[in-house]
Amino acid sequence: MQEVQEIFREILQEKEIKRYVKPIKEHHKETYNHVMRVGLQAMLLAQELKVPKETLKSIGRGGLLHDLGKIKIPCKILNKNTLLTDKEKQIMDTHPRCGFDILKKDNYEDILAMKIVIGHHEYKKHSYPRKESKEVKEERRVPHRKAARCSEIVAVVDIFDALKHRRSYKDAFPIEKIKELIHKEFIGRKALIQRVIQKHSKS
Ligand SMILES: [Fe+2]
Ligand SMILES: [Fe+2]
Repeated sequence: MQEVQEIFREILQEKEIKRYVKPIKEHHKETYNHVMRVGLQAMLLAQELKVPKETLKSIGRGGLLHDLGKIKIPCKILNKNTLLTDKEKQIMDTHPRCGFDILKKDNYEDILAMKIVIGHHEYKKHSYPRKESKEVKEERRVPHRKAARCSEIVAVVDIFDALKHRRSYKDAFPIEKIKELIHKEFIGRKALIQRVIQKHSKS
């Protein structure tokens, strides 16, 4: 198979991906850096899991687009360095749905990537409820289980990345602390945690 880095570079050149990644970069640089890392790392993990190439590409796109909805979240919430109020949390929780809705409105073609966008918080202890709409059900063109597995891959990488890097509300954590926290935060298959940690140790 083609090198994952090369496939990732190709995805970054896709017209639609450029169109969505640009506003993320303009709105919030930290989120942009995060989605760039998550897109690539999710693909690398998927490759280890022997995911077929087309699915691997959807995982890359899903990783790049998973936080697209944050362009609708005011920076004063994204940059807040203290706990969010209930109201702010409610607004933040809309981002998987907002991202999905942007893609849906544009008739984005990669349905699996869209499902990753809306599903990427489903494997977090404090998940954002999916609040599945009628349209999502109608869009079920790929088997649900496949979408769930792909969302799970992006979710574990997403959590790891959030713990590893500094955010407005927290410092970057050392690996020992990440190992402890990721087990509490990620509620998907534990074997994925081991893989993400091993990959980190090798790099
Ligand atoms: Fe997110
Ligand atoms: Fe994220």
